[in-house]
Amino acid sequence: MNASSNGRLAGKRAIVTGAGSGIGRASSLLFASEGAQVLAVDLNTAGVEETVELVKREGGEAIAMTADTGSDADAQAYVQRAIDAFGGLDVVYANAGVSGGDIPFAEQTVELWEKVLRVNLIGCFLAVKYAGAHMVAQGKGSIICTASVAGLKANAGGNPYSASKAGVISLVQTAANSFWGSGVRVNAICPGLIETGMTKPTFDYARARGSADRLGQLNPLLRYGLPHEIAYAALFLASDEASYVNGQALPVDGGLTASMPFKRRRA
Ligand SMILES: NC(=O)c1ccc[n+]([C@@H]2O[C@H](COP(=O)([O-])OP(=O)(O)OC[C@H]3O[C@@H](n4cnc5c(N)ncnc54)[C@H](O)[C@@H]3O)[C@@H](O)[C@H]2O)c1
Repeated sequence: MNASSNGRLAGKRAIVTGAGSGIGRASSLLFASEGAQVLAVDLNTAGVEETVELVKREGGEAIAMTADTGSDADAQAYVQRAIDAFGGLDVVYANAGVSGGDIPFAEQTVELWEKVLRVNLIGCFLAVKYAGAHMVAQGKGSIICTASVAGLKANAGGNPYSASKAGVISLVQTAANSFWGSGVRVNAICPGLIETGMTKPTFDYARARGSADRLGQLNPLLRYGLPHEIAYAALFLASDEASYVNGQALPVDGGLTASMPFKRRRA
């Protein structure tokens, strides 16, 4: 815990996937600063090691692990690693994801759909399955998955990406129900446009053509979000403050999905 910590996750043992960049890195830093021990998991070894270095520099406790979250064996292994290292597991933030790009419908292949669904949806399923088994046995735990506004409405990602994120929203609803009576909570966060590694091409493109001021202009806050703004939502869901929040998909999008499209007259 650092000086600005409130200890909101004191004593909790946590896993964050996709921890080598963006939202996962910000969440690893925040969880650790609030007192959690964090197993930071990512396919990108250099990225996740850098995250752990940053956590340690701030006085937090974290371990790096390279794993493919879409792999059954790797998911089992990262859950076991956290239990072995920390003596238990209280929180999993299944956040790793891929965008799948913006490919015209007619050019999309089964391979593309399988790749995106495997990481984004099956990766969350495996986290829920293996962490959930441990948490059900101990009678408590919080699992959080990163979905997206793209899982709620069209036009925020490619077809397989949106379908995968809609699947994540359904997964947290059905998993919360499957864990009936266990005390284990399962929720999702639906971020809007956040500046991360995944959206770097969009931001780079807009900045290069001088239209950066248009980024994030479709929501009532008239701006895009930053990774820590998603991490704070994850912190809440991970903590006991969210003890009665279960089976929900929380948009953190500046109000984007609350608003009907509306063409404003220029001043
Ligand atoms: N950035 C946005 O605007 C936005 C909006 C909505 C949802 N999301 C979701 O947020 C999550 C985090 O993405 P981000 O925006 O921080 O992007 P990011 O690219 O910065 O981070 C994603 C991380 O996931 C890792 N990863 C990818 N596949 C993996 C795998 N198979 N196993 C382990 N790690 C893997 C990557 O190496 C990377 O470090 C994703 O699920 C993404 O779909 C992002």
